[in-house]
Amino acid sequence: ITKYRKDYQPSNFLISETHLTFILNEQETLVKSRLLLRRNPKADLEAKSIQFDGENLTLQSILWNGEALSADEYKVTDEGLELTKVADEFELVTVCKILPQDNSSLEGLYKSGDKFCTQCEAEGFRKITYYLDRPDVLSRFYVRIEADKSRYPLLLSNGNPVASGDMDDNRHFVEWQDPFLKPCYLFALVAGDLDLLEDQFITKSGRTVKLQLYVDKGKLDQSDFAMQSLINAMKWDEQRFNLEYDLDLYMIVAVSDFNMGAMENKGLNIFNTKYVLANPQTATDQDFEGIESVIGHEYFHNWTGNRVTCRDWFQLSLKEGLTVFRDQVFTEDMRSKAVKRIDDVKVIRSHQFAEDAGPLAHPIRPDEYIEMNNFYTVTVYNKGAEIIRMIHTLLGEQAFQRGMALYFERHDGQAVTCDDFVSAMADASDIDLSQFKHWYSQAGTPQVSINYQYHKDEGRMTLIVKQSNQHPSSKQPFLIPLKLGLVGRSGKPQSFSLEKQDNKVTETLIHITDSSQVIELYKVDESSVPSLFRDFSAPVKFDVNYTHDDLAFLFAYDENTFTRWDAGQQLMEQCIVSGNDALMSNIAEAFKQILNDSTLDNAFKARALVIPDLKTLFESHSSKGVDFLIERRRSLKDFLAKSLEQDWLKQYQSLHQLSDKSLDQDSIARRSIKNLALSYLVCASDEHAELLKQQFSQAQLMTEEISALSIAAHEQVRPAQSMLDDFYKKWHQEPLVMDKWLSVQSTIDSDNVFEVIERLKQDPVFSLKNPNKVRSLYSAFAGLNFAQFHRKDGKGYRLIADTVFELDSINAQIAANLSKQFSGAAKLDKQRQKQVAAELKKIKNKPNLSKDVFEVVSKTLEQL
Ligand code: ARG
Ligand code: ZN
Repeated sequence: ITKYRKDYQPSNFLISETHLTFILNEQETLVKSRLLLRRNPKADLEAKSIQFDGENLTLQSILWNGEALSADEYKVTDEGLELTKVADEFELVTVCKILPQDNSSLEGLYKSGDKFCTQCEAEGFRKITYYLDRPDVLSRFYVRIEADKSRYPLLLSNGNPVASGDMDDNRHFVEWQDPFLKPCYLFALVAGDLDLLEDQFITKSGRTVKLQLYVDKGKLDQSDFAMQSLINAMKWDEQRFNLEYDLDLYMIVAVSDFNMGAMENKGLNIFNTKYVLANPQTATDQDFEGIESVIGHEYFHNWTGNRVTCRDWFQLSLKEGLTVFRDQVFTEDMRSKAVKRIDDVKVIRSHQFAEDAGPLAHPIRPDEYIEMNNFYTVTVYNKGAEIIRMIHTLLGEQAFQRGMALYFERHDGQAVTCDDFVSAMADASDIDLSQFKHWYSQAGTPQVSINYQYHKDEGRMTLIVKQSNQHPSSKQPFLIPLKLGLVGRSGKPQSFSLEKQDNKVTETLIHITDSSQVIELYKVDESSVPSLFRDFSAPVKFDVNYTHDDLAFLFAYDENTFTRWDAGQQLMEQCIVSGNDALMSNIAEAFKQILNDSTLDNAFKARALVIPDLKTLFESHSSKGVDFLIERRRSLKDFLAKSLEQDWLKQYQSLHQLSDKSLDQDSIARRSIKNLALSYLVCASDEHAELLKQQFSQAQLMTEEISALSIAAHEQVRPAQSMLDDFYKKWHQEPLVMDKWLSVQSTIDSDNVFEVIERLKQDPVFSLKNPNKVRSLYSAFAGLNFAQFHRKDGKGYRLIADTVFELDSINAQIAANLSKQFSGAAKLDKQRQKQVAAELKKIKNKPNLSKDVFEVVSKTLEQL
């Protein structure tokens, strides 16, 4: 059942045209398919059979060039349809029966609420009809949808509507044609009764594009921001990447039951409501940023994903890494570049490094998989984006854009590989990327250790750089871009020269290529501290022979926002893991300075003054043990809260005065530092709970309301329960707001969280069938409630394992996702490892276990 990248073979047959008719009904849906097939001139010309993919289909009839087939000319199996009668060119007509109303996998054609919708990536199209379900088979799609006119006034698919009309029995039809060739994973269909927000965009070459955003009835007051984000994304892609939209219509439909964030189906994106619906009363500042970035992401896929797609699923990062990079840069340009960078690095350090160090580690271009859906990972997406970012760093914006242009010139309309992308980048620049390509084939996080030494009399700084990688697939050294600068003792940038002659710079990019390498910086007049991996120029772990004073110094003076922030994080990390209490006062002092520095950006402050989370700490310091880290982090927080109580109070009060309802960057930043101050305050003393209650009851923005609620709940102050009850009363009819209510409660570090979760599971707002609900209650518990998930008595592990077990038969993809919460288990102490192993074995023995969960659980067990 394992699939290997090395086994790739082109398809022996291609599909010139795909004609689909959907007859939608409440009891059953009929899918009539007429495929025009032809031999692939670039494959086996002697092939005598075709294997069509198909799952959970009931074949009603089959015709070959209009004629019936005899029983020995085709065979139906669990995985598909084998056709043993072929010709150079022929037509195959099938009619299949499917049951979308019973499809809880949310893959293929299914129902979300009262509407029909689809999710086909990666291999969901095979749940709709028999097909060559692989991304390198590109076809022209003609779609006809028939349904009841009252229930489903709206019938949507990809491309342009070309015909529509009424039928008998109050039914109607719409026909769609997509002028672009596409693989079936980009197919989409929606049928329902929805509200519409319409706008338009005129592209730079003058095409007027109609923009349609479809949402559930009554939700139009939460739709404006998503539409504006789409318009901003279209404009930005023209300006920065010179890429223009290519159809006359762009539709987005929001559905509440969705496995992932959103899907880039050609001309008809389908979105999780979480990434569409928002107004300032229901959504937080963070939600707005998330919407802007996902709307951008799916839009950017139109070129990086749809116009040029993947040859096979091992190449997923070709489109995802690149498109995440594009959406990150979009957010950087729309908001704050430096702050966005910090936020993206946090994801890499807490989630991606952990994945790369555990049983599910894989290169950004994996070599094997059992279930492709398990590989929509933070490695393929976010580390993939870091790899693209490094190419951008190595080439610079101009050469990178030449590379993009060359990539489209060569591959528009094709299904290609990661190698093709790198070739375009290399050919458009003078950078040799051959060694760089190890980033595509080797897993694990490179560890870079740097020793710096200043030779005062010679004015020379020496850096000895060593790289290593624990992962067995990582045998070759990487090309690692190291962006560095020096901070002089005066706190100012210190210039230096890379040669002995004068040619002074204040920042440079070094290519680390060897496992051990020496870098000399000359003309360094003043004793300085090197600022290394500026902007996080490579996704590596690095340790430098910094003293605590060096770190405190960089935290106070580094001009690079990322390294400055990072120095603070490292200082806190050392304080936590070393058990050195004296450091706490140094940190408090540094905090105080930053807090009271009115020249500093509030958004930076709100990140700099946050203690590294337990997941990140555990990732690098698991040997210290779960209990030690929890306890030490707690005491650092208490110390910073109490020793700076007056400063937090001053900060809170002065900013609370200023509070406004605007969504501009400054207001967002003010709210974030203000709410951070509130959380320290309430941690310092219950006395401040009054401020919480006030903020909560007067809040006009969800950011203000949920911050107060969550601080109350997490600091376990008295009014928390009544606040939770009030919040429920106010918001129980808004599912997305209820998601917040659920996760606030499941992440409380309290012994009774298990009873709470059990009760919430029974609440009418909860459903195991809805992925957002599962993520809010259970993934939030396992991912964020570190102390309770890792309880010594194993109760946390049991809760998640039981849920995986139950979910497996409902939605294997979501169950597998949840089971990944155990993937850090090999780093736990022996007792906890045993508990996890026992839970995983129970899951593994479940009858009819999905291959999704099987793959995750068995790989995790191998390391225990
Ligand atoms: N291509 C989509 C996106 O990143 C995600 C599709 C997820 N599909 C899946 N089977 N996990 O925008
Ligand atoms: Zn994507």
